[in-house]
Amino acid sequence: MKILITGGAGFIGAHAAKKLIEEKNEIVIVDNLNDYYDVKLKKDRLKIFLAGLKFKFFKADIANYRQLENISAKHKFDCILHLAAQAGVRYSLTNPWIYEKTNVAGTLNLLELAKIHKIKKFVFASSSSVYGGNAKLPFSETDSVDKPLSFYAATKKSCELLAYAYHGLYGIKACGLRFFTVYGPWGRPDMACFKFADLIRKNQPVEIYNFGKMKRDFTYIDDIVAGIASAIKNNFAYEIINLGNSKPEKLERLIFLLEKHLGKFKKKYLPMQAGDVAATWADIEKAGRLLNFNPAVSLEEGIKKFIAWYKNYYNI
Ligand SMILES: NC(=O)c1ccc[n+]([C@@H]2O[C@H](COP(=O)([O-])OP(=O)(O)OC[C@H]3O[C@@H](n4cnc5c(N)ncnc54)[C@H](O)[C@@H]3O)[C@@H](O)[C@H]2O)c1
Repeated sequence: MKILITGGAGFIGAHAAKKLIEEKNEIVIVDNLNDYYDVKLKKDRLKIFLAGLKFKFFKADIANYRQLENISAKHKFDCILHLAAQAGVRYSLTNPWIYEKTNVAGTLNLLELAKIHKIKKFVFASSSSVYGGNAKLPFSETDSVDKPLSFYAATKKSCELLAYAYHGLYGIKACGLRFFTVYGPWGRPDMACFKFADLIRKNQPVEIYNFGKMKRDFTYIDDIVAGIASAIKNNFAYEIINLGNSKPEKLERLIFLLEKHLGKFKKKYLPMQAGDVAATWADIEKAGRLLNFNPAVSLEEGIKKFIAWYKNYYNI
């Protein structure tokens, strides 16, 4: 297949690109390499992590329809894997506009592209954050998700709705994947695992929200990528599917595992932050049934792999 990957210089995008290239697909990556976090890390994913693999890269903004149109004019895509987004719950409290621009207008642009260029398959990233403060655990795709706790979550839910409308109107086959707290090598510096490791390296105190009682369904990147690859191979009309480890762990456990590898660190315990949810936990019965999804990497094993990469990348 010829696949357009948006956000391919990002954490999940680069890993997905690697797997899909190895599976002999033709890959075109679009990313605007914005500076929400270290741009060098994004460039290194393309240069070092994807070294020796064949793909095309375009620095382009998905919020700019003309740029996407120029790329599509030169390529005939079978599928769009749409992962580009302004991610992060906390930043959406201070700059909601960039979330609207990239996540809503950008997604609309890609759906228009799919419509105009007759690209039938549209696999896209949603998020566990759409479940908001739902009390019922684990989170199931049949649960109501109309009460987002953050603007980021509201934009991710919007992506699901936009894709549904385009599916109904133009027959685009769409599959939205709700990712649950993804971590691993080449990860995202604004997320707990990477952020804590950075603070330890700089000998600064680690801020731990909800006094460490927060629970997250930490999911290793290779498991997520297996789910993405499987979704691309399928031909769903319209589906929304959870991709998570389905083994929620307390933040305290992540801290314990990081300290095992990096030594004890200074901690600053703080209350819950606005927009955050206390716990996430994926019901993955549907992912198992439709995608043969079966997460294999435990938090302990995954953290070991993350730390090995982190120490090598930062020369520790
Ligand atoms: N990592 C997680 O735990 C997680 C959880 C739930 C959902 N998601 C979703 O998965 C997707 C990938 O997340 P990630 O963790 O790899 O994040 P990431 O920030 O590493 O990757 C996103 C990439 O998109 C690019 N991008 C942002 N705005 C763009 C624009 N306007 N035009 C072109 N490119 C743009 C960024 O430069 C970045 O490289 C996102 O849609 C995110 O919302 C991630």
